[in-house]
Amino acid sequence: MVLPGFFKGTEMPTAGWWEALWPDPAKVLARVGIAPGMEVIDLCSGDGWFTLQIARLARHVVAIDIDRALLEVAKLRLAESHVTNCEFVEGNAYDIAELAPRLADVVFMANAFHGVPERTRLAQAAAAALKPGGRLVIVNWHARPREETTILGEPRGPATELRLTPEATIAAVEPAGFTLNRIVELPPYHYGAIFNKL
Ligand SMILES: C[S@@+](CC[C@H](N)C(=O)[O-])C[C@H]1O[C@@H](n2cnc3c(N)ncnc32)[C@H](O)[C@@H]1O
Repeated sequence: MVLPGFFKGTEMPTAGWWEALWPDPAKVLARVGIAPGMEVIDLCSGDGWFTLQIARLARHVVAIDIDRALLEVAKLRLAESHVTNCEFVEGNAYDIAELAPRLADVVFMANAFHGVPERTRLAQAAAAALKPGGRLVIVNWHARPREETTILGEPRGPATELRLTPEATIAAVEPAGFTLNRIVELPPYHYGAIFNKL
């Protein structure tokens, strides 16, 4: 069953290839500037593969996902690691400011922005959830043909036509009250777009 409001092409992978693609999520966080002591919102957090590493660094994390079953998996993952500084909130990413009323230093959104129908609206909502000078970090698949992005011998990731270039991401986010800080490469197939709230 498809959940109402579910972003297209953002299903959590079923096979074990996510771990093969992201063997070191903590390294990704360091590359995109998530630092010890920050207050972070992990938007579209899925099964918590990044959430656990964010929570190990951050002072406090709010993990938001529309899929309650995935939040339960994430909750268990953090509990097994005795990590207790994360709240898990079920809801639609557009409602981020209401779902996470405490203002954050960083909104981190990995592997979901490509499926958002109204991207500038989503970025506006993220801005409302950030402290002055806060950052929005978007981790996206590069806009390469899906057949080229193989992991464990098979093409993976969202359909080619859903993928966003850094330029398209910047064009969607900056009008929401952000300015690009930098783009970082996250090999083999991703980039991170880091924005400062104006
Ligand atoms: C591909 S997964 C990525 C999960 C995690 N960010 C990661 O990179 O490991 C995308 C997630 O977005 C969630 N999602 C889809 N539509 C959403 C919406 N409208 N609001 C909040 N979460 C949503 C899905 O349930 C899924 O867990």
